Amino acid sequence: MRNIFKLFKKKTSLENNDVQLDMENIPKHIAIIMDGNGRWAKAKNLPRALGHKAGVETIRRIIKEADRLGVKYMTLYAFSTENWKRPKNEVNTLMKLLVQYLKEEISELHKNGVVINVLGDSSRLPNDCIDEIQKAKEITKNNTGIVMNVALNYGGRDEIIRATREIAEMVALGEIKPSEIDDKMFENHLYTKNMPDPDIIIRPSGEQRLSNFLLWQCAYSEFWYSNINWPDFTEEDLRRAIYDFQNRDRRFGAIKD
Ligand code: FPP
Repeated sequence: MRNIFKLFKKKTSLENNDVQLDMENIPKHIAIIMDGNGRWAKAKNLPRALGHKAGVETIRRIIKEADRLGVKYMTLYAFSTENWKRPKNEVNTLMKLLVQYLKEEISELHKNGVVINVLGDSSRLPNDCIDEIQKAKEITKNNTGIVMNVALNYGGRDEIIRATREIAEMVALGEIKPSEIDDKMFENHLYTKNMPDPDIIIRPSGEQRLSNFLLWQCAYSEFWYSNINWPDFTEEDLRRAIYDFQNRDRRFGAIKD
């Protein structure tokens, strides 16, 4: 009976090329690998920096839409532990864009109840970045709206190694026994402590890989890829990703019915 309903729902829910979402089943946590800024710029004969600038405009739109739909956590992969390998001027551009974004948007984000949070080791970031992040976190810390996690100098392997070191230290000090280490304890040492795992990981630009993003947390995430470059990613694309998520059969390793 449920399957018949599902088929019926699928066929009738497309309207004017947009989708009718089940508002009772909005994913709690969406994570996005914001890829394709460089290719977007190249296709338009523009410098890569303008691709990243256009990518920031997409962030503004997508955060609003995710919040409007009732998503509780949005994690954006802005700078990986491997992105330091990029030319210095591109790294500087990305850091400047982050500072500019926080300066320009903080009052609007705060007004909308957004909580700003950073995943990753921000200590290696330029001082103005660290300061702006600190301010944004402080201003928004008591808000109750969508949590916007910006993954900065973030790597999934790095995160797992850090957690392992902290736990190993506790074992060495005799605070816990190795046999006490479990999923819950491990999660408490990750940057995403107390957050649900991402329900969907979205990657635009045609690439189909994780690139060291949320390696622990993605155990049961649904992946959604598209060929659109991040600057061209629209609110409708977000709704389509959610729609597809709502029509997937998540079993978490079990068998249904
Ligand atoms: C991937 O495109 C994008 C990035 C590595 C950086 C994303 C960062 C921003 C959009 C700006 C800063 C963030 C905030 C939160 C304001 P790419 O350069 O790998 O594109 P390509 O694969 O087409 O070259």
